[in-house]
Amino acid sequence: MGSWTLDDIPWDRFDRTKLDPEIVRIVKAAALVEQNGAAYAHHLCRVFADDPGFQETARRWGEEEVQHGGALARWARLADPEFDFAAAFARFQTGFQVDFDSARSRRGSRAGEMVARCVVEIGTSCYYTALREAAAEPVLQEICRHIAADELRHYRLFYKTLDRLLALEPIGRLARLRVAFGRVAESEDDELAYAYYAANEENRPYERRHYTHAYARRAYALYRPHHVERGVAMLLKAVGLTPNGRLGRVTSRLAWQAIRVRAARLAKMAA
Ligand SMILES: [Fe+2]
Ligand SMILES: [Fe+2]
Repeated sequence: MGSWTLDDIPWDRFDRTKLDPEIVRIVKAAALVEQNGAAYAHHLCRVFADDPGFQETARRWGEEEVQHGGALARWARLADPEFDFAAAFARFQTGFQVDFDSARSRRGSRAGEMVARCVVEIGTSCYYTALREAAAEPVLQEICRHIAADELRHYRLFYKTLDRLLALEPIGRLARLRVAFGRVAESEDDELAYAYYAANEENRPYERRHYTHAYARRAYALYRPHHVERGVAMLLKAVGLTPNGRLGRVTSRLAWQAIRVRAARLAKMAA
């Protein structure tokens, strides 16, 4: 298990007057995605069937992701006592299905799988940092501080594994870039949109575009330039490019512009 448990969270400091209903909605969605960590750990164990050392690591990683789900779900229930996490998770699992039992990585190789895992951990580490800075509720701030630290550690773990694999089964920078961009683009696929829907909607049917926008509008609004700078530097490192210097500066400026434009467009569409 990780370096903290739910008992380390100061639940008694929960302050209802500092709640933001928009943040409550995205926390509920994040709880569902995190709870799926065990299923993804199972997939990693299938992909790394001949590597018991990594399987052990992957299982521990999955447990930590599930703990993230547990902490966020408990907070969401404090914020909204009507929130039925078990029912929402059941809806999410029914509506969003991936073949977690497959022994083949969708990324074409185990090194590619690690690049994709790095991208996800970069995304979550930046996301929870941004959420902590945007949230006014002290218990949520504390949960996000713990989770963001875990996600950064997860990134380092997958990066280290990537480095080890590249010596055995090298894949070029271009292939790594392709996987990384593919995974970044997938952040607007069904997973987050469906989690947002399952966590917040009980009566309406799922509409992909609507819920993709509903989730993304609230998530993009949290980001500031320093989150993007950090994320871009980590991403460049994962694909084998120099994170500091001109490339990093230009890429993070472009990424920040893209996020700002997207956030503004989503806000305008919702107005
Ligand atoms: Fe997580
Ligand atoms: Fe993680």
